[in-house]
Amino acid sequence: MLEVKGLRKEFGQLVAVKDLYFTLKPGDIFGYIGPNGAGKTTTLRMLATLLEPTSGTAILSGIDIVRQPEDARPLIGFMPDFFGLYEGITVWEYLAFFADAYGIPRSERSQVIENVLELADLTVKRDAYVETLSRGMQQRLCLAKTLLHDPLLLLLDEPASGLDPRARAELKELFKEIGAMGKIVIISSHILPELSDFCNKIGIIEKGELLLWGDVDNILRQLQPTKLLTIRCIENAETLAEWLSKQPEVINVQIADSIVKAQFIGNDEAQADLLRRIILDGHKIAAFNEAKMNLEDVFLKVTKGEVA
Ligand SMILES: Nc1ncnc2c1ncn2[C@@H]1O[C@H](COP(=O)(O)OP(=O)(O)OP(=O)(O)O)[C@@H](O)[C@H]1O
Ligand SMILES: [Mg+2]
Repeated sequence: MLEVKGLRKEFGQLVAVKDLYFTLKPGDIFGYIGPNGAGKTTTLRMLATLLEPTSGTAILSGIDIVRQPEDARPLIGFMPDFFGLYEGITVWEYLAFFADAYGIPRSERSQVIENVLELADLTVKRDAYVETLSRGMQQRLCLAKTLLHDPLLLLLDEPASGLDPRARAELKELFKEIGAMGKIVIISSHILPELSDFCNKIGIIEKGELLLWGDVDNILRQLQPTKLLTIRCIENAETLAEWLSKQPEVINVQIADSIVKAQFIGNDEAQADLLRRIILDGHKIAAFNEAKMNLEDVFLKVTKGEVA
């Protein structure tokens, strides 16, 4: 468990991060989203014990990261947004160097390096010089390095920046695997769609303030006063469309082949009731779905102050 409790950072007059509270559990992949200067890096550096909070703390697996940073560090892996890779050494030598720095016993070192190379899909590059790797491979190498000591909490600061779509897709797969290993992963980004399909939690930060955080699905639902319903009929879609357009909580009914689309205003209870009435009225429907808003919409809505 990671419990962030009132984490705050001031730089002089500027409140870079304002009293953050959130909780994550193993397996969670948390997308930490905000525009430039929002306070993402400052938050991650505090969680990594590299920057002392003005107040507040976080408890990781029962360890207070501010009071017991020495005990917390072995549980934390931090990948900064700008990292330097050394030149003139091979991938293997690079990882061996850090394995030693992390105090991984010599007897386990080879196996540990093999494992992270495999995970990062860099086994074929083990003897290549670090500077000859592409940017995407360097990013994965840095991630491999961050995983060497098998941390519980992974802090990744804009790991996908500067990568092409293919390299991003490969990195996404890697994040999913890491989440499935039962780690707590926090990934910062200012590009929302990048995170939408593999994060189960999101938090949106602006000017140091966490505007909202939680389950991706919950947040999307919360932000969505009207939902787009998609109903697929077996027969007589026109009859259903006509019936729907008479319901007070339904607007904008549209029909295309056997699919009826309509906007619905109401909570889950009201939606369940609508579905019950559709069926009682004798309409044969094969599917009843609500469309989700994508994260980009949520982000724009939240940062425009439409959600308070
Ligand atoms: N060491 C520092 N001294 C003074 N101000 C700082 C320091 N570090 C960060 N800040 C300020 O704190 C605020 C948050 O910065 P931070 O780097 O955390 O933002 P960010 O969300 O990571 O932005 P980006 O997307 O550009 O990386 C900014 O206004 C920044 O200028
Ligand atoms: Mg940053």
